[in-house]
Amino acid sequence: MDERERVQADEAKGPPEEDPRIAGEKHPVARMLAIGVVASLIGIAITLLIDWFPEPASTSADKIDTLYDVLLICSVPVFVLVMTIAIYSVVRFRAKPGDMGDGPPIHGNTRLEIIWVTVPFIMVTALAIYGWITLDDIEAKQKNEMVVHVTGQQFTWTFQYPSEKLDSNELYLPVDRPIEFRINSKDVIHSFWVPQFRLKSDAVPGLTTKIRVTPDRTGNFEVVCAELCGLGHSTMRQFVHVVSAADFQSWVSDRKKAASGGGGGGGGATAGGGAAPSGEELFTANGCSGCHTLKAAGATAKVGPDLGKLGKNANARFIGTSIVDPNADVTKGYKPNIMPQDFKQKLSKEELDALVKYLLESQE
Ligand code: CUA
Repeated sequence: MDERERVQADEAKGPPEEDPRIAGEKHPVARMLAIGVVASLIGIAITLLIDWFPEPASTSADKIDTLYDVLLICSVPVFVLVMTIAIYSVVRFRAKPGDMGDGPPIHGNTRLEIIWVTVPFIMVTALAIYGWITLDDIEAKQKNEMVVHVTGQQFTWTFQYPSEKLDSNELYLPVDRPIEFRINSKDVIHSFWVPQFRLKSDAVPGLTTKIRVTPDRTGNFEVVCAELCGLGHSTMRQFVHVVSAADFQSWVSDRKKAASGGGGGGGGATAGGGAAPSGEELFTANGCSGCHTLKAAGATAKVGPDLGKLGKNANARFIGTSIVDPNADVTKGYKPNIMPQDFKQKLSKEELDALVKYLLESQE
């Protein structure tokens, strides 16, 4: 009898003696289910104990966190059951040495197939409806909304408050006031994300996307770009300052005073109440620290050259030109077109001079 004939003879005899379905264990399915249920309970307990998100800071956060917990409670058992059946089967029904047979033929099981199609269908449909209800709730229009335009550009965010007639490099919001963000991009796709609000929306050139949020806690929360948008992507971070309504109003009037003092260009005769921003403030407000290192300002980014080590290039004319026309002389080892090209429009002559002076004074 050669090898093949022996295999055929074995198959004709049916499953070998030590097959668990014959030898003692009558219910491998029951055993798998028991293991799966216990493992699911442990898995659910662990996933619910993990602190997935930072401290919530908006009225949407609780609803989204609850939705996330429900999704975990539904998906952990599915994952655990599938893995239990797969691992159990691989271990328990593995081929013994010398066993060349394919095992008994399987012809399908209509009842099982109906169950494994119907149960996931019901689960997914129910979760989709729940998700829809939550989304609808979060996106509902609120009374007394304030519109804030968000503009993304490589590699900073700017903000416009149409109701206050104010443009700003900083994002301040009054607490408990519903906000509608209208989000744009000047160049490539960015993504406006405030993890503590739990909300995120892509900033797409040529398109306005919207999100609504009501901050319900004062504090400073991180604004992060969540779409790979170029070399400085990881530095495209800012803060949203959620403050009381009174503090927000005084911030608005301070900003307006600063803007009219700096942009007026009225010969410098009128002392604008000390409103003109200093070189250091300009450095921060224009997002320079997003890309450059400058020890004096505590900036450590490495997208562009270290501005505290300009060496023999450190004269006012070179620094001024490099700010308003960054491609005029690109430092060796760096690429052109990374630095924004619009500082000539954004900075007044006085602001540019103040910034250049500050950088000269900050050389190491
Ligand atoms: Cu902007 Cu990433």
